[in-house]
Amino acid sequence: MNIVLFGPPGAGKGTQADNLVNEFNLIKISTGELLRSEVEKKSELGNQIKSIIDSGSLISDDIIDKLIENLLSDSNSTNRIIFDGYPRNLNQAKNLDKILKKNKQKISAVISLNVEENLVIKRVMGREICSKCGLTFNKFFKPSSDLHHKCDPKFLKKRADDNENAIKKRFKIYVDETLPILDYYKNQNLLTIINGMNKIDVIYEEIREFIASLKTWLCKMYLYK
Ligand code: AP5
Ligand code: MG
Repeated sequence: MNIVLFGPPGAGKGTQADNLVNEFNLIKISTGELLRSEVEKKSELGNQIKSIIDSGSLISDDIIDKLIENLLSDSNSTNRIIFDGYPRNLNQAKNLDKILKKNKQKISAVISLNVEENLVIKRVMGREICSKCGLTFNKFFKPSSDLHHKCDPKFLKKRADDNENAIKKRFKIYVDETLPILDYYKNQNLLTIINGMNKIDVIYEEIREFIASLKTWLCKMYLYK
């Protein structure tokens, strides 16, 4: 089972993917996280892309395609991937199909989280990430507290691209370049739309139920083949 988690910046893709990874034993591939870790390492690639990410623009398809091809050649991830924030345009979507086919895999479902721009901006402006344990919080919706977060609040940091200019640009790029991919997946009967404006737990329950039924269906298909 390979799932694409789709949606605008701040839709909750990372939040939901992290929960699904634990429950369904999936491996998360987040191109955003992979790129940020290159920036942190100050690798040659990281230095090359830092200003592009910080401004809210997309990284070139060549870089992303290479990154994905390397990851998908690892047999440990076969048929248990959740893609978060990838593919980002039609070119990447078609390339993903090619790479998966080469590795005898395919996409099982695309789950799109719908969230309006004003809510996306509030979520992104409130996001805080603990640089010590990696957990994500939100000043407005999910504040860090002693009950579920033991690290010192001084470790809570904002992402460099979580400012109003960059988020407006990221949302516009999402509408212009990423959203059109939905038709590509709809035509293949892979698309499921979920209201991403609800609370985190409500959304998770809906996705969870969908994935559980998909898993049952895929097992039956395999048995009767
Ligand atoms: P990426 O890291 O993928 O960022 P994004 O798509 O902009 O999405 P975000 O990570 O901002 O949001 P999210 O949906 O994960 O939300 P989250 O769960 O954190 O990409 C960053 C950059 O990398 C791109 O701009 C580009 O430069 C580059 N890049 C990445 N992939 C690329 C690709 N394939 N091609 C080219 N370039 C690429 O939630 C957000 C906040 O809201 C959190 O604080 C969370 O606690 C809170 N929250 C979540 N859900 C809810 C809810 N239901 N209610 C209330 N609060 C919520
Ligand atoms: Mg994310």
